[in-house]
Amino acid sequence: MDDEAGWTVGELAAMCGLSVRVLRHWDAVGVVTPERTEGGHRRYGPDQVTRLYQALALRRTGLGLQAIAGLLDDTGTDTGTDSGTITALRDHLDRVEADLRRQRRLRDRLAAALDHPAPDQLMRVIESMTMFEQYVHGYRADESARLDDQATALVDLLHRGIAYEPGERVLEVGCGVGAQTVALATNSPETAFVSIDISAESLARAAQRCADTGLDTVTFHQADVFTLPHDDGDLTESSFDHVFVCFVLEHLAEPAEALRRLLRLVRPGGTITVVEGDHGSTYFHPDDAAARAAIDCQVRLQRHAGGDALIGRRLYPLLTEAGWTGTRVEPRVVYVDGSRPDLAQSFILRTFTAMIAGVREPAVAAGLTDDVRFDAGLAALRRTAAPDGVFSYTFLAARARRPEAP
Ligand SMILES: C[S@@+](CC[C@H](N)C(=O)[O-])C[C@H]1O[C@@H](n2cnc3c(N)ncnc32)[C@H](O)[C@@H]1O
Repeated sequence: MDDEAGWTVGELAAMCGLSVRVLRHWDAVGVVTPERTEGGHRRYGPDQVTRLYQALALRRTGLGLQAIAGLLDDTGTDTGTDSGTITALRDHLDRVEADLRRQRRLRDRLAAALDHPAPDQLMRVIESMTMFEQYVHGYRADESARLDDQATALVDLLHRGIAYEPGERVLEVGCGVGAQTVALATNSPETAFVSIDISAESLARAAQRCADTGLDTVTFHQADVFTLPHDDGDLTESSFDHVFVCFVLEHLAEPAEALRRLLRLVRPGGTITVVEGDHGSTYFHPDDAAARAAIDCQVRLQRHAGGDALIGRRLYPLLTEAGWTGTRVEPRVVYVDGSRPDLAQSFILRTFTAMIAGVREPAVAAGLTDDVRFDAGLAALRRTAAPDGVFSYTFLAARARRPEAP
């Protein structure tokens, strides 16, 4: 292809709201493969742009990248639909149906709670939601897609300085759908990872994701951090060189106890890395009271579910209380203004605002807000992604060591 034809990866990124990193990844996994100039640079023509928008539409349904690539390849030929695509779509249908079953159970519980109003109705409604959802963000397919977007947007920021040595063993706690797992295993290709989560469904998706990316250094286990360590198998005492925990403590009622249990899994002198957010660190322009109130709904729901959306500021005291030593906490600021339209899309809209939008239903059901006010808050948050808007959020990354044996 000649050097002037088509769009460069940077131009396309600005046009479609994905980051250059995501477009490169989509190229690597066969979702949208551009032409190459003689100098080896990517160039996207009209066919690839069409395919990109089809891929974006499929992504919004929660389909994985491999399934999207297969489906688009398939529909681009006249050979009919192959069995791999059918299987991927069936799997996806199973996940959507599982989501719907959960939603129906939630609806029934909420309706039942509202049918028999009691003085503590607010709390009962919230409890009915949190008992079944397990944690406030839930396990729904759109939450998985949000975590994917979040990890892709933030991967450099969150994983900065994290590289494990060849031959070391690393435990990843609460791996979810594997958004961080892929970055960890890619950045440390000769390290053995054991990734755990309490959700079997998330683990299956994480394992699929690693397989799709060609990573074979990760072993997955269904386990609860509060019942570790085990005395045999992959999760025995002092058997890891490092632990990595990202966006998990915020959901736990007893984060110090979890950190105490993880201390026992690591060898003396081994390290832990903990990454968490803190919603209190959020500021934006134009400022807006309804937007701040919508964020506060998330903070209050998470608190009632036993978690803490402001946990970032507690990392140092929690690690110290749990017996870790040499703790250093580093603020990692995501600052977005009109000069970063890609980050405005991926962080303000698809990560932060999508997360707040996810609590609309329970927040309204609990009487913390009403539809109109909450939607005004969401609109004001989206407004900050405009070229004259500004948004800032601070993650906290902590590193600490298990004390050496005396
Ligand atoms: C917000 S997700 C974060 C996932 C992943 N670390 C990431 O950054 O994308 C929190 C994860 O912690 C898991 N989790 C919650 N409580 C847990 C527990 N007690 N033991 C193990 N995993 C837990 C949830 O199932 C969920 O997958």
